[in-house]
Amino acid sequence: MFKKPPLIGMLVAGALAISAGACVGGSKSMVSEGDPGAIKAVDLLATWVGAGAPNGAFSYEDMSGNATDANFDTDILPLFTKDEIWGEGTAACTSCHFDNSEDSYHEMDLSSYEGMMKGADVNEQPPGVPLFGQSMGVGMTDFDWGHSKMKARLRNNRMPPGVEFDITEENRDGPTGKEVGMIEAWVASGAKNDATFQNMILPMFTTDEVWGEGTAACTSCHFDNSEDSYHEMDLSTYEGVMKGADVNEQPPGVPLFGQSMGMGMTDFDWGHGKMKERLRNNRMPPGIEFDITEENRDGPIVAHGM
Ligand code: HEC
Ligand code: HEC
Repeated sequence: MFKKPPLIGMLVAGALAISAGACVGGSKSMVSEGDPGAIKAVDLLATWVGAGAPNGAFSYEDMSGNATDANFDTDILPLFTKDEIWGEGTAACTSCHFDNSEDSYHEMDLSSYEGMMKGADVNEQPPGVPLFGQSMGVGMTDFDWGHSKMKARLRNNRMPPGVEFDITEENRDGPTGKEVGMIEAWVASGAKNDATFQNMILPMFTTDEVWGEGTAACTSCHFDNSEDSYHEMDLSTYEGVMKGADVNEQPPGVPLFGQSMGMGMTDFDWGHGKMKERLRNNRMPPGIEFDITEENRDGPIVAHGM
């Protein structure tokens, strides 16, 4: 029923080109899997956070299974302060997130341990959005990488693939600035299978080029609950949208609109839902190519001492 548009072929071809050329990132020192200390950048961060995110020594297991000594200053900080670590042509995080002033995006400082622990939006009320999954509040240390903002920003591609990064944030709510708000309003009024859903919301998932020139319909990739459909997700019907993602996993179903897990839950919470996050949040750093094989989601292979 949903024929794959040629665009998908292009995306796949693009992804292949990337993994052939730069799967270890654009950093000058290309590290390969068998090298001593080799590890994917996101796995290194996960290990560091799992060790309590110390401002000092920790150790990790490299891709060959050997224990490797590491340190915040030499192994973690450079992931945020060096150009081209995450991919060819990508700028250091600190070129945009360099202190807690208004000039630094999200008033976020990724140039020091203290800055990272303060998190984002430090001048807002309440101050500080934690980056590593810890509770709000200065000095909280209940780190949780799996649910952290940092993990989501480094791994999750904005949907649909191909939406351009716009630093003015002009396109974050959709091409006319109204699309995301329309979904939000529908969710706020109970996310019902009503005329609004059928005539205004569903077409945003099933039509090509709604979210930007050359972008494919969500349903070209998320069309039913089989393994062939990315995240076993069906955005082609009301029932599918309510079942959510990963419906064949245990526990089944990742809710899209912030509702609790479990069929039929209606405690919708747009602000904390996956759909909002995927439509608005650009993957960091800007410029990372979408790779449909997911090869690049854990970042380049880096090594101790980089
Ligand atoms: C070219 C500038 C630029 C670079 C480089 C950049 N960012 Fe961002 N970052 C932004 C902008 C703009 C936003 C907000 C808009 C958005 O979500 O796309 C943002 C948002 C974020 C957020 C969300 C904060 C919140 O409160 O939700 C995190 C976390 C983040 N960036 C981390 C990083 C990391 C880590 C890197 C490097 C790997 C990086 N950024 C590189 C511009 C940049
Ligand atoms: C070209 C194929 C493609 C298109 C088109 C596409 N997606 Fe995706 N989507 C993916 C892939 C691949 C992933 C998983 C990898 C990733 O995060 O980048 C994903 C992940 C997601 C997730 C995360 C599910 C979870 O459990 O975390 C959501 C939600 C999502 N997409 C929604 C959408 C929406 C909404 C649209 C249309 C606006 C869309 N997608 C268009 C391929 C696509």
